[in-house]
Amino acid sequence: MKAIVCKSYGPSSQLKLEEVEKPSPKPKEVLIKIHCSAVNDYDWSMVRGKPNLYRLLFGLFKPKHPIPGMELSGVVESCGAEVSKFKAGDKVYGDISAFGFGSFAEYITIHEDAVVQKPEYLSFEEAAALSHAANLAWQGLIDFGKLKKDMKVLINGAGGGVGSIGLQIAKTYNCHVTGVDTGNKLQIMNKIGFDRIIDYKEEDFTKSREKYDLILDTKTTHAPKAYMKVLNPHGRYVTVGGNIGRLLQIALAQWVLKKPVYVVPLDANKDLEQIHKLCKSGKVKPIIDGPYPIEKTGEAIQYFGEGRHHGKVIVSLDSN
Ligand SMILES: NC(=O)c1ccc[n+]([C@@H]2O[C@H](COP(=O)([O-])OP(=O)(O)OC[C@H]3O[C@@H](n4cnc5c(N)ncnc54)[C@H](OP(=O)(O)O)[C@@H]3O)[C@@H](O)[C@H]2O)c1
Repeated sequence: MKAIVCKSYGPSSQLKLEEVEKPSPKPKEVLIKIHCSAVNDYDWSMVRGKPNLYRLLFGLFKPKHPIPGMELSGVVESCGAEVSKFKAGDKVYGDISAFGFGSFAEYITIHEDAVVQKPEYLSFEEAAALSHAANLAWQGLIDFGKLKKDMKVLINGAGGGVGSIGLQIAKTYNCHVTGVDTGNKLQIMNKIGFDRIIDYKEEDFTKSREKYDLILDTKTTHAPKAYMKVLNPHGRYVTVGGNIGRLLQIALAQWVLKKPVYVVPLDANKDLEQIHKLCKSGKVKPIIDGPYPIEKTGEAIQYFGEGRHHGKVIVSLDSN
């Protein structure tokens, strides 16, 4: 089968499409013919081995998992002897990061718990764009943010995967949503319905008088104290990711200083049932950048890392 192989850390331009052995499923695994995969921050970090701290996770000297990619949609081709949830022909999708990597390939074997049934109303492209970002957005806004009707919400880093879905979830609660990002993303953010848009290169929202009930952050660009200044008295700050030093500060402020600031530890695929309901009713629709063909995966990861994308960058394997 064809797969994108990453043998050593370095620029994503080094990634090549290679012929590798097609895997066979172990007893609890399914063999999936992949239709689409999505680019994530993990891929950008894993391919380059940066920040260095991440090498503790990805492999000290070279990637432990030579095939990157942690989100997929596809069709089950065969099942291991102990698989109980799926049969050959089932359409599935999911964020597989709790079980492994390797979705920039024609096939993958993965534990059956790593994926869920794909509803017919989601295309393969939409499904691949949904699992990771929508779960982060849901868990950030609902589980940790305690989102309620008519709240004033700000999303920092709003033009990517989490921000574009986060906006749509917050709108189902009739919230007023401000989005912070820059460049070509501002136009798309305007189109998908942010009530207010702030270009972070022009304005620092933490220095404004405007206050929010909930801040959802995908980048953690400021210190906890700065966020606290723009929260209403019962407001909450929730981050899903970003700069490691800042994330440690937020965790410290939460646990030691007991401030209403939270870091979301992703529970992969947990809330897909709720998210399916919103997609079925047309209230949530993933924003897709692409699809790009599998042989352009290196360029797609570079494009994502340089912040030129909007929504989710999708890689398609359908033409192979
Ligand atoms: N919590 C967990 O367990 C977990 C697990 C996996 C991943 N994550 C994290 O979750 C996040 C996923 O977010 P995502 O998929 O939406 O990422 P994304 O698509 O990269 O979106 C983030 C957006 O923030 C923008 N941005 C960059 N610098 C900014 C600044 N100073 N102020 C405001 N916005 C800025 C980016 O713009 P540019 O593209 O121009 O830089 C980008 O549009 C990542 O941080 C990832 O590391 C968390």
